[in-house]
Amino acid sequence: MASFSKIRKAVFPVAGLGTRFLPATKSVPKEMLTIVDRPVIQVAVDEAKAAGIEHFIFVTGRNKGVIEDHFDKQFELEETLRARGKFDALEKLRKDLPAAGQTSFTRQQEPLGLGHAVWCARELVGGEPFALVLPDMLMQADPGCLSQMITAYEKHGGNVVAVEEVPKEDVSSYGVVGCANKTGDTFEITQMVEKPAIEDAPSNLIISGRYILQPEIFDEIAKQNPGAGGEIQITDAMISLMNVQQFFGCQFSGTTYDCGSKIGFLAANVAYGLKSEELGEEFRLVLNEILNKK
Ligand code: G1P
Repeated sequence: MASFSKIRKAVFPVAGLGTRFLPATKSVPKEMLTIVDRPVIQVAVDEAKAAGIEHFIFVTGRNKGVIEDHFDKQFELEETLRARGKFDALEKLRKDLPAAGQTSFTRQQEPLGLGHAVWCARELVGGEPFALVLPDMLMQADPGCLSQMITAYEKHGGNVVAVEEVPKEDVSSYGVVGCANKTGDTFEITQMVEKPAIEDAPSNLIISGRYILQPEIFDEIAKQNPGAGGEIQITDAMISLMNVQQFFGCQFSGTTYDCGSKIGFLAANVAYGLKSEELGEEFRLVLNEILNKK
């Protein structure tokens, strides 16, 4: 089997304003809203950690300081927990804490689009292939979505994009891929388009918010003009890079919750709540009670 550079770094774009969740996101970043008891961004980092990622790069913006605090040691809190003998809670905090030097933060100063946000991480990524994780898209999968993609990458190399089927009427909210010959779960992508009109979509396979990209993507982003929505799009940069590098779609197994929408966020809380070891059983009863109320 060919050997490809290990994917060590993951980029998390977290600069978005979260206007769809106002007023909740007036002073709390949308990435800190919780799925049961874990912030959305923590769930995304958990997935990356499980996939062997060693360095976590956050592209933040103004008013996102608490994301940085979340991934830091909270000395007073830990001392208080220790003094009160709450060792379970302490151990949970310890497990989630990235090691010293494992996180980096940079800011996207202006909201110029997802492609631009990724480009802001170019110096932190350097010249190696990396993962890009959009925390809005939560995937309940075992092994995790990024782990499944890294397995595909270790086989094929190149660039890998997680894809999944959606009803045709939903394609315009996403990047959409096309392929010439789809035989298995991993296949070569021949076409991509960002937020197409339904009639222009090459398929109903959407880009799900997880990518493994070669570092040449940064030069392609730098050349892009604003695309869909007047923003610098990562999809457009991938289309340019497709002229010289291969892109593979990885149709992973699992369920996606689009937490960029309120309904997806609520659904994610129900799904993760039901799966929770601590609360699942009780939550199922409570949920049934609510559903059965006339
Ligand atoms: C971004 C990408 C899009 C992808 C989507 C997944 O769009 O540009 O290709 O399908 O994430 O969530 P956004 O949701 O930032 O508009």
